[in-house]
Amino acid sequence: MGTDNKGRVLVVDEDPEICRLLVKRLTREEFYCESCSSGKEALELQDRGKFDAIISDLRMAGISGVDLLQATRKNHPNSAFLMATVEDDIRVGIEAMKQGAADYLVKPLDLDVVVASLGRALEKKRLEQQLGNYRERLEQIVQQRTSQLRAATKRIEQTYDDTLEALAGALDLRDNETAGHSRRVSRYCLEIARAMNCSPEELRQIARGSYLHDIGKIGIPDSILRKPAKLTDKEMAVMQTHARIGYDLVSRIAFLAPAAEIVLTHQERFAGTGYPQGLAGIEIPLGARIFAVADTLDAITSDRPYRRALGFTDARAEIIRESGRQFDPEDVRAYLSLPEDTWENIRLEVAGLRLKRESPPPVVPKASPVEARPKTPPKQAPAEATGKGPD
Ligand SMILES: [Fe+2]
Repeated sequence: MGTDNKGRVLVVDEDPEICRLLVKRLTREEFYCESCSSGKEALELQDRGKFDAIISDLRMAGISGVDLLQATRKNHPNSAFLMATVEDDIRVGIEAMKQGAADYLVKPLDLDVVVASLGRALEKKRLEQQLGNYRERLEQIVQQRTSQLRAATKRIEQTYDDTLEALAGALDLRDNETAGHSRRVSRYCLEIARAMNCSPEELRQIARGSYLHDIGKIGIPDSILRKPAKLTDKEMAVMQTHARIGYDLVSRIAFLAPAAEIVLTHQERFAGTGYPQGLAGIEIPLGARIFAVADTLDAITSDRPYRRALGFTDARAEIIRESGRQFDPEDVRAYLSLPEDTWENIRLEVAGLRLKRESPPPVVPKASPVEARPKTPPKQAPAEATGKGPD
């Protein structure tokens, strides 16, 4: 049998003399060697113990050499296979190589040639296995690095969200009329967007975009933002730049690009009468069209210095009236499909007056301490807030 220093070899041939000669020579070459006289026996021996190489005759009764090759490729893919053929069958031997045999040996066998061919076949298998292990290790490393990168990206996204929320909080401090407005509008938008079957990623971007819609007001001078009287045309033009300023601020952050589009277009109107670009219909991003409904809903149901808040039923009537003008009729339909207490509940939740009914929506910024502070006495509305949809 010999040692298995160089590998374990199975010889399969109906001719016992060929088996004997091969086993003798290969054992001398320090291979562990077994032999059998049929394909059936070979399959049984393979199932009992692993062989590094099979040397099989092509022509055998029952299971042929080609059958044995196919079974070996399927069940023991790491075993090298050498096919022995008579001269007339060389073409079949070549065909066997195409099917995965390492080599073919022409009978009568030259034992030196067999040993050399076996050495090459085993070396090739060893290299293949090494390559396979290397590839597997490489895949593991790539997988590990990918998950590390994902975690880092998530941390960065969270940091951006935190930073932008702090900015929005700073804006609330300056423009106290909007305190709680951004958060409510963001929650209203999410409800409508969910009713429109938006994807989780769309929901995330709509939540961010609607929450940050007025972030550009950071760039508007106090003399205009807090002016206790009607704005002049020139001042109004400055006020209207807040959409573009907000866009420039938010669009610098790659993962917020879709949210930035909502910031830029949040003052557009379905009929094309908004600003800054006068977009109409579906030219306006979906998130901004949803925002228009949510913003009006919040504006009507919030106190203003010049009027008390109206109820959600009044807001509903106004939104229906403006469908197709200010608002996309499809968004209005989604809004109307939701129970009316949805909005009141959100308003109370944001004000901290009621426990949340459900788990928090995706990536909605955390509650801002700014909203918990007591309301300062109402000031005169900035000119932009004198319409029905202030923000
Ligand atoms: Fe605005």
